[in-house]
Order: sequence, then C-alpha cells, then structure tokens
Amino acid sequence: MEPSSSAPILVEINDSIARITLNRPEKLNALNPGVLRLLKQEVERLAAAPAGSIRCAVVTGEGKAFVAGADIAAMQNMSPSEANDMAELGHAALDALEHLPFPVIAAVNGFALGGGCELALACDFIYASSRAKFAQPEVKLGIIPGFGGTARLSRRVGIARARELIYTGAMVSAEEAERIGLVNAVFPPDELLPKTLDAARSLSEVSGLAVRAAKQALREGEGHLLPEANAIEKRVFSACFGSEDQIEGMAAFVEKRPPRFNHGT
Ligand code: COA
Repeated sequence: MEPSSSAPILVEINDSIARITLNRPEKLNALNPGVLRLLKQEVERLAAAPAGSIRCAVVTGEGKAFVAGADIAAMQNMSPSEANDMAELGHAALDALEHLPFPVIAAVNGFALGGGCELALACDFIYASSRAKFAQPEVKLGIIPGFGGTARLSRRVGIARARELIYTGAMVSAEEAERIGLVNAVFPPDELLPKTLDAARSLSEVSGLAVRAAKQALREGEGHLLPEANAIEKRVFSACFGSEDQIEGMAAFVEKRPPRFNHGT
C-alpha cells in the first residue's frame, strides 16, 4: 500500500529507482521514535524487493531541511534506558539503510544536523544543495551523536575532522563539507534532485549484481587490514563469475555491443 502524502516518510519507486522522502517539514523532518520505526520498516520493505528490481535509492527531505536531527522534544525527558532504546532504534534503521543491496544517495536539500547528518552518513554518497548545512551539534545539548555518527563520521572524513566536528558542534557549509570529503558533490538548489536522479539512473544501468557485490566488498572490507580486506574482495569478486551479468557484460564487450544486464534477477 502506498503511504498517504501526509505520512512522515514517503516512498515512491520509478524505473527501478526508489525515492525516500522525509516528510515532516513543520518540524524540519526531525526523527522521533515513530518516524525511525517507519523508516526502518520502509527500508526493510525495499530490502525485500525481488533482487535487481530496485537498483538505486535517493533519500531526501521535504521543505527547507534534509533532517534537523533527532527530535529534541521527544528526547527531552528520556531516562538513560529510554535513550538506549532510541539509539538502538536509530542504529537499526540506519544500519538497514546502509545494508540495502543497491546504492543509496543522500540528496541533502537543507539542514543535515545531528541524526540528519548521521542519516546522510549511512548513505553511499552525499550530494548537497549549495544551501545545505551540516553539523553534529549534540554537545550543545549535553549529549553526543547516538545514531552511528561517532563511527561513520570518522570513517568518512578521518578521525581528526570528526573529533573537531563532534567536539565543537560547528555547522559547516556544503562547500566546506565537500572540501573535507563529507559531501561528494554540491549543486545549485534547483539542480540537486535532477542531478541526483541522473546519477541514480547511471547507477541503475551498470550491472546491479556487480554494484551489489562492490557495495558488499567495500562494506565488509572496511576497517580490516589489507590481507583480510583482500580476502573479502577475492571471495566477492570470484562469486561474480558465472553470473548472467558477468557472462553478458564480457560477451557484450567482446562483441562490441551494449550489454543487456538482468541485474541478478
Ligand atoms: N527536534 C525537534 N524539533 C525540531 C528540531 C529537532 N531536532 N529541529 C527543528 N525543530 C522544530 C522547531 O522546534 C520548530 O518547531 P515549532 O514551530 O513547533 O516551534 C520547527 O521545527 C521549525 O524550526 P525553527 O527552529 O523554528 O527553524 P529555524 O529556521 O529558526 O532554525 C535550525 C533551524 C535547524 C537552526 C533549528 O531548528 C535548530 O537548531 N534545530 C535543532 C538542531 C539540532 O540541535 N539537532 C540535533 C538534535 S540531536
């Protein structure tokens, strides 16, 4: 069943590309437990789609924010045990997003603060509007990032920059975020979604099976020493051989024609 347009998360699938829109603009798309549960549920629904039927997802926000963070009003009176449950839910939703078997692009249209920056970090690439702003401002509220930011931000931009951003809570522009490697590309606001969808279309044309394998090898290899990362790569690389996409991709090259992938369906 399609969610109604007033649902806090909207999911549309067109031409093998899923678009996930955080849709609570009156609260700058802040993530409360209900929204996180729904996000997890929607992501799990996409994960369960037949193999190769979805080949890329785009995550964006409705209104002037991407996501202005975890919902502060919902967290204000939480006990440590309730905060533990909130972090567990945030981790589960964002881990599910990160594990989707196709690339996910964050199209950051505005504020990506706290949990919003962490949501973007769980995506494979981050494209941003020139108006976007990024921060992990939790220290200004007496807390720290709780949806995977401490680990994912340091992996993305290096530990020194992550320390600086997390200890100060400083807000950075899209240009600065691109300079430090948090953002892959910055576009004028009205070009963000068209350019992101162009990129999603390009990603949906190469072998879906190969992109899924590449995503798996990069994710599983992350944090390992080179010999273990190479062992993971060797296992995933060799498993591509004998697949219809490998046979077709190489035959098409040799026969000098475009490939017709079935994307592992
Ligand atoms: N949690 C809950 N509500 C939030 C929110 C959040 N993280 N961020 C924004 N909102 C709500 C505001 O309370 C306001 O609600 P109201 O109209 O009922 O008062 C509404 O969204 C609009 O936000 P507002 O602050 O009026 O917009 P602004 O343009 O003046 O400021 C921000 C934008 C992003 C600078 C400001 O909203 C902000 O600092 N938000 C919190 C960011 C943060 O600390 N995030 C990390 C949380 S761990």
